[in-house]
Amino acid sequence: MTVTIVGSQLGDEGKGALVDLWGGDADVVARYQGGDNAGHTVVEDGDEYKLSLVPSGAVRGKVGVLGNGCVVNPKTLFSEIDELRKRGLDPDVRVARRAHVILPYHRRLDGIEEEVKSDSDLDAGTTGRGIGPTYEDKAGRRGIRIGDLLDPEVLRDRLEYVVPQKRALAEDVYGVDTGEAFDVEALFEEYRAIGERLTEESMTVNAGEFLGSYLDDGADVLFEGAQGTSIDIDHGIYPYVTSSNPTAGGAATGTGIGPTVVGRGEVVGIVKAYLSRVGTGPLPTELTGDDEDLADYIREKGGEFGTVTGRPRRIGWLDVPMLRHAARANSLTGIAVNHIDVLAGLDEVKVGHSYDLDGEELFTMPATTERWGRCEPNLREFEPWPEVDWTAVAEEGYDAIPENAQAYLEYVSAEVGAPIYAIGVGPDRAETIELVNPFNEDA
Ligand code: GDP
Ligand code: IMO
Ligand code: MG
Repeated sequence: MTVTIVGSQLGDEGKGALVDLWGGDADVVARYQGGDNAGHTVVEDGDEYKLSLVPSGAVRGKVGVLGNGCVVNPKTLFSEIDELRKRGLDPDVRVARRAHVILPYHRRLDGIEEEVKSDSDLDAGTTGRGIGPTYEDKAGRRGIRIGDLLDPEVLRDRLEYVVPQKRALAEDVYGVDTGEAFDVEALFEEYRAIGERLTEESMTVNAGEFLGSYLDDGADVLFEGAQGTSIDIDHGIYPYVTSSNPTAGGAATGTGIGPTVVGRGEVVGIVKAYLSRVGTGPLPTELTGDDEDLADYIREKGGEFGTVTGRPRRIGWLDVPMLRHAARANSLTGIAVNHIDVLAGLDEVKVGHSYDLDGEELFTMPATTERWGRCEPNLREFEPWPEVDWTAVAEEGYDAIPENAQAYLEYVSAEVGAPIYAIGVGPDRAETIELVNPFNEDA
């Protein structure tokens, strides 16, 4: 069967922690979208791993696949694999030949366009990894795929077509100097060698066939979403979004396994007990003004600084309309709620239960970001819960969670319309309370 893990909010909900927990029961862990803009943290007995491209199942020694829906920077991939090897792991990562390659000019253009857009507040605060420009080229049918790196003639043809366009864009439209990142010869030599390493290490696969044969043999596959529903290019807060589909449908299109297989499995939404946001755009439940001290406190306590870029994350109360939107867009069968330890010991705990927009009460997100930005949250207050020994709570299980936190969890589950499968009370694998293992469910 399959289990799909998706972010229910704005990314950084703690997906890595749950992929690590349930990846222990999977045979293969596959990413289906995004690239090295992701930053997934796994903590095992105090050892922290931050993964941007290698699927988080690597810490459990599982086969990892980067599906066709991913955009792959092979340099990041190799350096991450090398780093994990140094730490004593032996990651087995396969890359779809249909996945698109992030080239140096994509990263340069990402930065250039963000700067230009910032004049009109349209910059998304990207991670600068070249994600958007690579997906643009994919949709424009001028991209370079992993499979193209394996055939020098094809690689040269593709580069000769696309690189002069990119150079002209950078020089003539944006007026910036270009260098090796926009030079056909330099790129050809470097990426041909990368293709050779991919071949030598037998890393490339036809991802759909590869995963399909595992499933045919009765294996369990975990699909690891990156980013989150509200930064999905279709279902998120456009244009402050990423350029792929983190929502569950992406697990099908991004791997070559059909939607009925994905849908027969479990789709688990990862929920952070409050909101964090590393990019730009509106955020109705953001803690600002008089609440800034509270935001600082939560940021420090929750370590809310970008895994990829180190940027301080913006903080807000839980946005429940956002979760209802995620429940529908992903057909969530269950949720995992993380970070309830971070909210412990506060004087007040609130959630945005619904929005007020032009005198109307809304229970899900409006489709345009302009309207969303004008939404006033209707806050609902919860009794705060005390700071406790969370390691002990994790050992004892759900009943040891402070009652007020249980009331909060039960409210979230009821509003989302999905049962709670796990609760995060700290970053370590041992600090997740598991109520349901989705691999044991018959959906
Ligand atoms: P991802 O991108 O969704 O995988 O999430 P990140 O790894 O970017 O950010 C989540 C952060 O919170 C990481 O530092 C995790 O180690 C940490 N974390 C995950 N679950 C919990 C939890 O329940 N409590 C606390 N305090 N930290 C958690
Ligand atoms: P994980 O997988 C949080 C945000 C960026 C920016 C927008 C577009 O760790 O949850 P991009 O570089 O993708 O073109 O940036 O999306 N963003 C994330 N925010 N978590 C992530 O990944 C993110 N990946 C991208 O901050 O607003
Ligand atoms: Mg992250």
